[in-house]
Amino acid sequence: MSKKLVVGNWKMNGDTKSGAALVKEIASKAPPSVDVCVCPPAIYLQSLMALEGAGSLTFGTQDCSYHSRYGAYTGEISSAMIKDAGASYVILGHSERRQYYGESNEVVSKKTLRAHEEGLNAIVCVGETLSEREAGIHTSVVIMQLMESLPPSVSGVNLVVAYEPVWAIGTGKTATTEDIREMHGVIRRFVQEKLDNPDSIRILYGGSVKAENAAEIFAVENVDGALVGGASLKADQFLAIIDAAK
Ligand code: PGA
Repeated sequence: MSKKLVVGNWKMNGDTKSGAALVKEIASKAPPSVDVCVCPPAIYLQSLMALEGAGSLTFGTQDCSYHSRYGAYTGEISSAMIKDAGASYVILGHSERRQYYGESNEVVSKKTLRAHEEGLNAIVCVGETLSEREAGIHTSVVIMQLMESLPPSVSGVNLVVAYEPVWAIGTGKTATTEDIREMHGVIRRFVQEKLDNPDSIRILYGGSVKAENAAEIFAVENVDGALVGGASLKADQFLAIIDAAK
């Protein structure tokens, strides 16, 4: 069985000083039996990666452009640049990107293609809203997101899927272990049936993962790690989550 993967999504948080302190502490204490990826705001990526000891972690960004490599696209960061900066992961289609920046499945699919062109690991996020869950259509919503957010040619190599119920992100509400088991099973079956090389795909759970609930979540079948927002900004909390993934 592959190692669990714990990803810290800092979102638009942190600065030079606090980010460095956080990375140093995580790098010095995280056990090698867990893959740990830190996704800071892109502007801090290289200075954080250059810190002493940071080589024991992997790094990623929170988004990338759907345009290829270089060009006149003001404000954009391409997957080629992310690769060149030394990162290895990119989070794509996070619900905040979908909600605030109108990112459609089609856009997420294009970005996934760009990430894979550069050999980056794409962490593709899916998840239903509260009203979709209450209407009982959560599994079909997630299947549809997967069908449309993964490019037709995608293989399981360098692919991570993050299931993040929108109603559980930053709200303190976590899905029940039964909800997580059901959805992770649905996602596992989907990737096994539809994609080439599905065996290396890790399926992460995200949404109010904390030190207190991490062990219980990691024990659920088909949970291969976590995508952590708020709790990834506090070294002790993030380390406790990493510890639970050992
Ligand atoms: P949260 O965020 O852990 O703060 O709920 C998770 C995420 O948005 O990836």
